Amino acid sequence: MNLTLNDEQKRIQTLAREFAEREVKPGAIERDETSTYDVGLFNKLGKLGLIGLPYPTTVGGQGMGYLEYALAVEEISKVDASLGISYSVATSLYGGTIFNSSASEEVKKKFMAPVLSGEHLGGFGLTEHGAGSDAAGQKTIAKQDGDFYILNGSKCFNTNGPLADYYVIYALTDPSVGTKSMTCFAVERSTPGVSIGHIENKMGIRSAQVSEILLDNVRVPAANMLAQPGEGFKLAMKTLDCGRIGVAAQGLGIAEGAFEIARKYMMEREQFGKPISKQQYLAFKMAELYTKIQGAKLLVYGAALAHDAGTRFTVDAAMAKMTATDVAMEVTTEAVQMLGGNGYMREYEVERMMRDAKITQIYEGTNEIQRLVISGTLFR
Ligand code: CAA
Repeated sequence: MNLTLNDEQKRIQTLAREFAEREVKPGAIERDETSTYDVGLFNKLGKLGLIGLPYPTTVGGQGMGYLEYALAVEEISKVDASLGISYSVATSLYGGTIFNSSASEEVKKKFMAPVLSGEHLGGFGLTEHGAGSDAAGQKTIAKQDGDFYILNGSKCFNTNGPLADYYVIYALTDPSVGTKSMTCFAVERSTPGVSIGHIENKMGIRSAQVSEILLDNVRVPAANMLAQPGEGFKLAMKTLDCGRIGVAAQGLGIAEGAFEIARKYMMEREQFGKPISKQQYLAFKMAELYTKIQGAKLLVYGAALAHDAGTRFTVDAAMAKMTATDVAMEVTTEAVQMLGGNGYMREYEVERMMRDAKITQIYEGTNEIQRLVISGTLFR
């Protein structure tokens, strides 16, 4: 299948693919093993203009769209899903919250440009210990104090958290009315009272850094408010629609990366006197996986195109996220099986891809939440 890309989209795809192969792939096994993140790779993503792809130049972006961005996330995630999610969170969730917000152009540029340029990481503070799938169950409070708001609370599972210089933090101005008072702020890491709590030790995406963000009397200018009280939940949902395209592209990339390793291995590995690709059972299995990947690709690119067309893309994003990440889990699990004993070994990479794939079915809305979003539109 060859969805026709224009010359600019092909250029972005090639740029991201060459960068991924040349600079990201070589250290991926070690970064996973040591749970270390290479900030230099993020800096380079920015220098190549890939982080700001879907945003206008007025806020530091490249003035392209979500299809170009999805193509880049896909290429990076083929070789390193950790960098894929770090990149996606910075662009879609951090950048998206600010871009979709009611903040002034000046505030948008101030907080977006340093992250889109790749100089600084950005994090997205929505999830709390008691507010995961039920994102409305926030406890973090923002209390007005003249021209400032004082933030108290904590956020968890914050991708980029320990390394980020900027966050968007969702909070309630009046807990007695819950989401009717939900708002959001752009917060600088250097603000007194912001600190890093527990850093997670994870099954997969081990190079990506994920932590708690603790907020203890953090004084934030009212000008940094990104949603009027009561509008914060919708801002989070609108932003997650964008983020889910990023995770869908990540899942697609993981699936393609593992598929390609298995395909090449099957042509080289001989058993019973012939390459294992000549075993019809295995070849048929690969045909099925290939078909599923192509189907997922159509949904991912379709959701990105729906975003870029300015239409409501909530369901497109949910279908793409659910399908591409389920396909990633299936393909990586089968790839480990195709490689037999070697598949279980670190140097063959597919075991890492299998561990990485699992979280894509969970974060940015579990695939059960995606089913809720999709089914909610079917019976109106
Ligand atoms: N766009 C705009 N507005 C939306 C919307 C959307 N996609 N979805 C809902 N809304 C609006 C609704 O219209 C409604 O507005 P009104 O009150 O004016 O009618 C309001 O939001 C409430 O909607 P619901 O009643 O549907 O909300 P709900 O409480 O039932 O929850 C949910 C809906 C889909 C379950 C939502 O809570 C959800 O998406 N949960 C998952 C949270 C999630 O994805 N978390 C991931 C965290 S980020 C992450 O994983 C980080 C990482 O590091 C990778």
